[in-house]
Amino acid sequence: MPVIILGGGGDYEINLAGGWDADDKGPSIWDTFCHEGGRLVLEGQSGDVTCNSYELWEEDLRCIRQLGLTHYRLSLSWSRLLPEGTTRHVNQKGLRYYNKVINDLLASDVLPMVTLYHFDLPQALQDQGGWKSPEMAAIFDSYARFCFETFGDRVKLWITLNEPYVCAKLGHEDGIFAPGVKEPGIAAYLVGHNMLRGHARAWHSYNVLYRAKQGGSVSLAINSDWAEPLDPASPDDTAATERYLAFTLGWFAWPLFVTGDYPEVMRSSIEVRSKELGYQEGSRLPRFSKDEPSLLGTADFFALNYYTSRRVKPGEGCPGVLGLKSDQDAEGVVDPSWPVCGVSWLAVVPDGLRKLLMYVKDTFNNPAIYITENGFSQMGPVDMEDVQRCGFYHDIIQEVARALREDGVDVRGYFAWSLLDNFEWADGFSVRFGLFHVDFSRPERPRTPYRSGREYAGIISKYRSQTRANN
Ligand code: NOJ
Repeated sequence: MPVIILGGGGDYEINLAGGWDADDKGPSIWDTFCHEGGRLVLEGQSGDVTCNSYELWEEDLRCIRQLGLTHYRLSLSWSRLLPEGTTRHVNQKGLRYYNKVINDLLASDVLPMVTLYHFDLPQALQDQGGWKSPEMAAIFDSYARFCFETFGDRVKLWITLNEPYVCAKLGHEDGIFAPGVKEPGIAAYLVGHNMLRGHARAWHSYNVLYRAKQGGSVSLAINSDWAEPLDPASPDDTAATERYLAFTLGWFAWPLFVTGDYPEVMRSSIEVRSKELGYQEGSRLPRFSKDEPSLLGTADFFALNYYTSRRVKPGEGCPGVLGLKSDQDAEGVVDPSWPVCGVSWLAVVPDGLRKLLMYVKDTFNNPAIYITENGFSQMGPVDMEDVQRCGFYHDIIQEVARALREDGVDVRGYFAWSLLDNFEWADGFSVRFGLFHVDFSRPERPRTPYRSGREYAGIISKYRSQTRANN
């Protein structure tokens, strides 16, 4: 009987860590984005201190142990390790910090899954063009090698990039995430392309230089809604759904798992719209060069971040408008029967995860899958007795178990987002995803389990004993 590993997510970059300029850390694009006036972060909030995990790591470890987690997903802050982004200057205190975090986890029988990049590019690299620059692929590879070399004797599960879709679209199309670039229809494709190139190089580096002696696995965390046609009998809605999935999940998964290139429907939609707008054929979606390491096969498992679902119909068309939305030409709507929890985009649809898992199994050649993020938020007055979130975790884990047992999906693990309430990017501290409440008004940032935290601990211990009984 296969096993579901129950982990928790958290981060040690801007979501949780704070210490934004402590001990030689360099600024990241999120530090800049928060500090510059007129930006879109709620009420001028920032990740300067957030949960202060940089100083309070042992408190976090206590929470992790209290939940009984078997795995913990954390992200490294690139500019804490390499303040200017390159190995010319290593911050020894940052290094010591992450070594302690990893060693403490292992000493507590918790296996770390480590993400190298979680939205926070060193500002020094942004100043040289950031992810729009083709040079970034080699620079990222060198950072990745540094991390494999330094931590890879102990870390066996790696994520190169977290949610490249979000970096590309929210950061470079909509401009609502750092670095706040708004170049619709152009920059996002370039950024996505360079991120994929960087990922591929890092995976090949691991494969050639480290795999034999370290024996770990490397992937890329892809976020996607589940999507289904608004009217299942409508060919237009069905085609729009195909585009919706191609422009989110497919954009980053197709090159790794299917062809080494973008989904055909994505290429053709962009070409058609480019021609209409007078661009040269294919000019906006770059092509992968045959002289570079191939992308196909550069994921040792499928890392999936799932939060919500949509019903899809064709978009408004937006003729003459340059942008991803008009290229994609698909609009996702929330079914009125789906409850929306906390933040407006998060319609709660647990069985959407089961359907998405089936889709991944069928489309991407039955990969081993880790659900690297999933969660439920609250907004407004804090509810420590969060029964809705408790129900959510029971339901979603039930769906994962069904996918595993009834649909034959090769699910290897599930990570709840998040261990603690934290800095939720442009929404600041208004959106709370934690299994532990954090009181941001007090300097000690006390962590207190929500009812859902206690129940999650109960679910883990139940699964652990079932696993033991089955073995
Ligand atoms: C995805 C991101 O990886 C994480 O940082 C964020 O807080 C959650 N989703 C919730 O929006």
